[in-house]
Amino acid sequence: MLRRLHPDQPGSFAFTPANQAWAEAQITKYPEGRQASAIIPLLWRAQEQEGWLTRAAIEHVATMLGMAYIRALEVATFYFMFQLQPVGSVANIQICGTTSCMICGAEDLIRVCKEKISPKPHTLSADGKFTWEEVECLGACTNAPMAQIGKDYYEDLTAEGFAQMLDDMAAGKVPVPGPQNGRFASEPLGGPTTLKDYSGETQNGSVALAIRIGDTLKRIDGTEVPLITPWQGIPEPKSVPSAKVKANEPKPAKNKPVDETGVSKQEAPAKSKAKPEAVAKGAEAEGTQPEMLTEARGQADDLKKLKGVGPKLEKLLNELGVFHFWQVASWTEDHVAWVDDRLKFKGRIERDGWIEQAKILAAGGETEFSKRQ
Ligand code: FES
Repeated sequence: MLRRLHPDQPGSFAFTPANQAWAEAQITKYPEGRQASAIIPLLWRAQEQEGWLTRAAIEHVATMLGMAYIRALEVATFYFMFQLQPVGSVANIQICGTTSCMICGAEDLIRVCKEKISPKPHTLSADGKFTWEEVECLGACTNAPMAQIGKDYYEDLTAEGFAQMLDDMAAGKVPVPGPQNGRFASEPLGGPTTLKDYSGETQNGSVALAIRIGDTLKRIDGTEVPLITPWQGIPEPKSVPSAKVKANEPKPAKNKPVDETGVSKQEAPAKSKAKPEAVAKGAEAEGTQPEMLTEARGQADDLKKLKGVGPKLEKLLNELGVFHFWQVASWTEDHVAWVDDRLKFKGRIERDGWIEQAKILAAGGETEFSKRQ
């Protein structure tokens, strides 16, 4: 397949200030003279920000790294993960078309894409919300057929369920990722024969993490806290805006890894836009703040479906930045302490079982209480 730059290109590209700081910090990972090694993460960040790689973005990254444009273009055109044409504003749907998925129904999913998005791959739908493409094995063959949508996998798909999923996404909803046929993970379809104890978990680790992070369809828009760069001696993200590469700063590659795990923390949870009045003035906050949103992603969930939440409490939760069941479903003990502290109803979340209820509701189910609503 020929990979060429799209004929319609914007005139310019700029990283958001946060992404620019992130990109500059990435470059410091590499020894002097090896800055070009940062090409993949920088191109990827540009794509995460815009959805696709424009010529201006490729040239911007090349300039940052002191590379000839053609060298950056070679990288961008070589790897299929880089999108060289506009993608849907909601998502680019990647259908696995390799053996297991093909045998189990990938062609039906592609038919749905052709009907609902566009007869041809890499082509915007009429409303501009979606594009689609067929990709090679994504390594979830046991849960075939599957698709990667945004940052997550949707597995055990059927044509009908997949079509409904596209409609939901177009309406602003984010279906819960993972197996769509009730499977917990990749156990036999007839149920597990070993390791039967899930310890009360209703979602496998990948799905639980996807729900907790909540960025399945989200682009990196600059509202994220920039990369923490411990090797630059910057302990808190707040200090990062001036994280320019300085010639005399030690390079991590010289003597030490990024951190003791060798993995850098690239993003931190979004800050709460909680109204000050929702937080006790002068009170010492307990727990850890869970992910809060500045606004609902699409249509807000009816939080009153949670037993113990009335209109007043729902308003307060919305003010804190809670709009969806999946948010509540992802709370840890520490998060509960933080929210409890602000709702002034100590113990209520646990007593009424909000998290258990939210997990069911987030997965599209109903609780005894919600059925009566
Ligand atoms: S064949 Fe589709 S994920 Fe492997």
